[in-house]
Amino acid sequence: MKIAMIGTGYVGLVSGVCFSDFGHEVVCVDKDPKKIEMLERGEVPIYEPGLDTLMAKNVEAGRLSFTLDLHEAIDGAQAVFIAVGTPTRRGDGHADLTYVMAAAEEIAKAASDYVVVVTKSTVPVGTNRQVKQTISKANPDLEFDVASNPEFLREGAAIDDFMKPDRVVVGVQNDRAAEVMAEIYRPLYLREFPIVTTDLESAEMIKYAANAFLATKITFINEIAALCEKVGADVKSVSKGMGMDGRIGNKFLHAGPGYGGSCFPKDTKALARIGQEYASPMQITEAVIKVNEEVKRRMIDKLLDLCGGSFNGKTVAVLGVTFKPNTDDMRDAPSLTIVPALVGGGAKVRAVDPQGQHEGEEMLPGVNWVDDPYKASQNADLLVILTEWNEFRALDLSKIAGKMATAHMADLRNVYSPKDAKRAGFAAYESIGREGFTAE
Ligand SMILES: NC(=O)c1ccc[n+]([C@@H]2O[C@H](COP(=O)([O-])OP(=O)(O)OC[C@H]3O[C@@H](n4cnc5c(N)ncnc54)[C@H](O)[C@@H]3O)[C@@H](O)[C@H]2O)c1
Repeated sequence: MKIAMIGTGYVGLVSGVCFSDFGHEVVCVDKDPKKIEMLERGEVPIYEPGLDTLMAKNVEAGRLSFTLDLHEAIDGAQAVFIAVGTPTRRGDGHADLTYVMAAAEEIAKAASDYVVVVTKSTVPVGTNRQVKQTISKANPDLEFDVASNPEFLREGAAIDDFMKPDRVVVGVQNDRAAEVMAEIYRPLYLREFPIVTTDLESAEMIKYAANAFLATKITFINEIAALCEKVGADVKSVSKGMGMDGRIGNKFLHAGPGYGGSCFPKDTKALARIGQEYASPMQITEAVIKVNEEVKRRMIDKLLDLCGGSFNGKTVAVLGVTFKPNTDDMRDAPSLTIVPALVGGGAKVRAVDPQGQHEGEEMLPGVNWVDDPYKASQNADLLVILTEWNEFRALDLSKIAGKMATAHMADLRNVYSPKDAKRAGFAAYESIGREGFTAE
């Protein structure tokens, strides 16, 4: 089967590469000439573990190619996937569908034979019907169907998530489209991964409901963490004790500096907006959005306390700026709220991130970048762990404490314990949802 993939971002590129690995012929299209040039040279524009090797293997096998030309990609394809961005629209929180609708128009102009137009981007309920109308209007003679196929992969574990999904969700309107989708996912179907086949609206809703639920779970434990600090409980034990309950599960129960990333912030806002539009308010999701902003502000207060009430003139070492480890994605990362507060307050910030520097240099002005945590801590007044990269999990804390002007640590991912910090010679340590200490 020939598949065209529109958009070679975190989702489109991974999906295109994995579909080609299933044995399909895949042509990936992007509007961005720089991305296509890199891909044609065999370079991967994003950081995603394992993607370079899998991409090279399938290009070599002649199943995977890249182009700027949508006509060339669509020619002879039985399915065209739309995997373009759906960022938050400025002003009202709604998902911005400009890129999706532009892609639909382009497909309409380029296609001539029966094709299934599959939306992989996360889109509000009703969008697939809108895509259908847009295509019919632009090319009334075209025979086509639409399908909704939201993506659940996680950056940093994207290939595994795509190849071994908990489920695949497919929304269709008829058997013909369902058969094309079944053919595309046959390798997963044969290995008995569940496929949920449903209508367009339910498929669209599943994606938002799943993301809002996960954001709620994270926010719930973050709020419990704040209470733990007040009552003298340890949120790590609380998460463990809660998570062992099979009805709750231990995932997304790690307290931290607030959720971020390319999906949860925009998808919670979009769901809240859909609720308002249909006069069916998503009150829990609205509260989650508000509490998550408060969590980030609470982190800044923690850092201020550790700096004696002012950032002015302090040197702060920041470990990690990406929204989570194993990605270079900085979209809506907590660092984008916390680091500007440090810089704005007069601190000198030295940051280190295994993959985030390239994006970070543009998004975090006024920051000095170094390549290891020990250099970052030299004469620093505060060490902040913002992203739990493996590289930061086994630091020689005594060496770091010895280099610092004042050995204070804000461990916003609970990587270490108060005991570790005390033993290493830190004079003050704060983490999330646990009692910290100040020696002086
Ligand atoms: N990033 C994730 O972890 C993730 C996970 C699940 C779902 N999603 C959803 O998938 C969608 C894509 O997300 P992403 O993170 O891959 O976005 P991205 O911004 O990384 O990539 C989008 C790509 O589409 C290209 N593009 C836009 N319009 C185009 C057009 N008309 N023709 C060709 N290319 C075009 C852009 O140049 C860009 O390269 C979003 O709706 C997102 O919510 C993302």
